[in-house]
Amino acid sequence: MYLLLVFRAMRNFIVVGHKATTTPSFSLEDIPGTSGRLDILCRAVTAAFVISHGIRKDVCVYLVLLGGEIPKTIRLVGETLRHLNPDERTTAALLKKALAVPATPEWAMSTSGIFVRTGGLAEVLTDLKDAKLIYLREDGADIRGLDAPGKDSSLSGEAAFILGDHTGMTPEEEALIEQAGARVVSLGATSLHADHCIVLINWFLDTNVFMSG
Ligand SMILES: C[S@@+](CC[C@H](N)C(=O)[O-])C[C@H]1O[C@@H](n2cnc3c(N)ncnc32)[C@H](O)[C@@H]1O
Repeated sequence: MYLLLVFRAMRNFIVVGHKATTTPSFSLEDIPGTSGRLDILCRAVTAAFVISHGIRKDVCVYLVLLGGEIPKTIRLVGETLRHLNPDERTTAALLKKALAVPATPEWAMSTSGIFVRTGGLAEVLTDLKDAKLIYLREDGADIRGLDAPGKDSSLSGEAAFILGDHTGMTPEEEALIEQAGARVVSLGATSLHADHCIVLINWFLDTNVFMSG
């Protein structure tokens, strides 16, 4: 009798919302129009976590919100995440609760598996300095080149995927990402929605034996 130990490396997704509100004063009746496009980030959360009849436990999402006086980051942790449903409104309601929590530079828990703090992309990149950083951009290296076993470029182990919103990424952010040592990787020349990219990355990691840990 064999004991099969399956280790699933952590998958992190970082999504930057350049206009995304840092306050809870947006309307759940009009999320795109009142929240600085928090709807994009809600769809990214769904794509990262939600599977048929469950939540991915090995996923962590960082939402970098830059549409306020000071940046805030919301972190969602699959292992303990509760109350997430597939619909955008429920996710927005969870984020609204998180934004009502007084934020400091230390993580504070809002609801189970959801944390908030002040700080933006630089702080998240510091948190994830030991992960393989992958910046997703249309003109990057083909992701299919990353899958060879034993290659430095392989995605085995903890990885963090960095994505922009509808406005992409600023030159300053790109400089930060480059300094952090991220590889620039593409899913093809066609510009996709960030949540669709996340679905493809999850599929890629699910189906690639060399990357699943
Ligand atoms: C809607 S796209 C941004 C569109 C476009 N870059 C712009 O600035 O208008 C959102 C994010 O998804 C990611 N993305 C979209 N298509 C991609 C592709 N084909 N390969 C890799 N990443 C992609 C990038 O991180 C991008 O910043």
